[in-house]
Amino acid sequence: MNRSNKTIRLIKRPEGKPTADLFAFKESPLPPLKDGEYLMRNMYLSMDPALIGRMRDEEGYTDNVTLGEVMHAYGIAQVIESKNSKVKVGSVRLGQINMQEYAIFSDPDACKELNLGLASATDFLSAVGLTGTTAYFVLNEIAKPKAGETVLISSGGSSVGGVAAQMCKSMGCKTVAIVSTEEKAQKVKRDFLYDAAVSYRGKSIEQLYSDIKQVCPDGVDVYFDNTSGDISEAVMDNLNLHARIALVGRMAISHLADTRKDIGRRDESILLTKRIKKQGFVLLDYQDRLKGAILYLARQVKEKKIKTKFDVMEGMEQIPTAFLRMLDGKSDGKQLIKLADIDHALDKTPRWIGRLLTSRYFPTNKLAKKLTGGI
Ligand SMILES: NC(=O)c1ccc[n+]([C@@H]2O[C@H](COP(=O)([O-])OP(=O)(O)OC[C@H]3O[C@@H](n4cnc5c(N)ncnc54)[C@H](OP(=O)(O)O)[C@@H]3O)[C@@H](O)[C@H]2O)c1
Repeated sequence: MNRSNKTIRLIKRPEGKPTADLFAFKESPLPPLKDGEYLMRNMYLSMDPALIGRMRDEEGYTDNVTLGEVMHAYGIAQVIESKNSKVKVGSVRLGQINMQEYAIFSDPDACKELNLGLASATDFLSAVGLTGTTAYFVLNEIAKPKAGETVLISSGGSSVGGVAAQMCKSMGCKTVAIVSTEEKAQKVKRDFLYDAAVSYRGKSIEQLYSDIKQVCPDGVDVYFDNTSGDISEAVMDNLNLHARIALVGRMAISHLADTRKDIGRRDESILLTKRIKKQGFVLLDYQDRLKGAILYLARQVKEKKIKTKFDVMEGMEQIPTAFLRMLDGKSDGKQLIKLADIDHALDKTPRWIGRLLTSRYFPTNKLAKKLTGGI
């Protein structure tokens, strides 16, 4: 069948905050499948903050998008044609499928097959996917919060922040969010059960420092840093002796053409005198242990111990708007784009396996601990 593929390409690099004119729509015919290849119809795309880094001409921990190339994005797709004996037609897969209607691959492992009995497709793009597993490994490997400690999370209303907050709450920690507005502060307390939340928009570093101090009178033991920049500078003097800082994201400096040139107060003095541990985090380092984290999070979501939220917009045309909404903090949950419905009748992956692994009678947590290295 002759098919055409609608794509979104990056035609300019951002100078400051990304804008809609960086993207261009293009439609071109799909080439016929070669031996060993498989064709997927893209179902959901995830609008992730990390994509901003890929748009820049800056050295990072992933490949950058070259100008004119289809804009990168992670998402979920279904195989609709296969000339690869290892890839079944109908299987639902997660991977870097990019901002387009169809994707062709040859490596069967480029996109991982999902078991939708374990979690829904949208959960696989949030609490059970890259954002949930980020929260999981940051907390277990770097931050290591203990009951009674205060955990402060910037971008507290983000998908990563929301999962982290709920996990910390269940460990007996006090959880505090930093978010853009007062309205959002109230909302994240309801949605993710934060004990307190402060807003940063329109405030000086000094003002934000004292607002944090007011809601964290005993100081901050763990800072889950999704923003960097001025927000993190306001946190510094609130940190306790032996605090841990997990550096996870750079939302507050994403408007800079080169994030390496962010300037601000140096933190060595505070780190030294308070013996603070600060460590960067990249999920790619935990690839071989993802299964265990996914298993644990899928069970938590199924038992409603972790609540997950999505903001779904439909159609290729909505992608630039959805991406910019995410950047403006206007999305109500993980910002997704839906491109097509999954044909569940076509997916022959046995769901009972996923259901069994997450059932109350199955020792999922023990198994997850084993697979994640004994956390
Ligand atoms: N290192 C890794 O391996 C890894 C993996 C996954 C995610 N992450 C990071 O985790 C963080 C959250 O990701 P996510 O996918 O969960 O995000 P998300 O759900 O898409 O939410 C994005 C958040 O960014 C905040 N934001 C937007 N512009 C901002 C600005 N100028 N200053 C401060 N905050 C801003 C918004 O909150 P407000 O309205 O409150 O500002 C919004 O809640 C990001 O920094 C991302 O890069 C890192």
